[in-house]
Amino acid sequence: MVAFTLNGEARSLDADPQMPLLWAIRDIVGLTGTKFGCGMAQCGACTVHIDGVATRSCQTMVGDIEGASITTIEGLAGKVGETVQAVWADLDVPQCGYCQSGQIMSATALLAETPKPNDDDIDAAMSGNLCRCATYQRIRAAIHEAAHRLEA
Ligand code: FES
Ligand code: FES
Repeated sequence: MVAFTLNGEARSLDADPQMPLLWAIRDIVGLTGTKFGCGMAQCGACTVHIDGVATRSCQTMVGDIEGASITTIEGLAGKVGETVQAVWADLDVPQCGYCQSGQIMSATALLAETPKPNDDDIDAAMSGNLCRCATYQRIRAAIHEAAHRLEA
């Protein structure tokens, strides 16, 4: 049995400790906003926050999350999270949308850590999140806009 917090709620799961957290989130808990892309920590589609840090849930095992606080796109709240999601909608960032929950989770973790990121900061934080629709320019613009709104 593994006990942790998911989107602010205490949870305990009777799951194989070697199960990827991504499967537990999607198949056991039933939250499907976190996506499977590569399964090898190469694309970022599965990004969640573990204790506030953007983390690839496909390569995080259930046995390693005891006591952790996990946030998925469904539970993303607070000023930074809400601002990022509002900007994403206002700037029409997504195209097909598949990668975007992971993009938002990484962008939110970046802004929580670095309120005024420059382009290099953004590239460094977002380089692990791939987008087959190549929305990279809009993502960068959205992060700058979110930083601007959060500053106000
Ligand atoms: S599915 Fe986890 S990084 Fe691609
Ligand atoms: S919006 Fe389609 S993969 Fe990123």
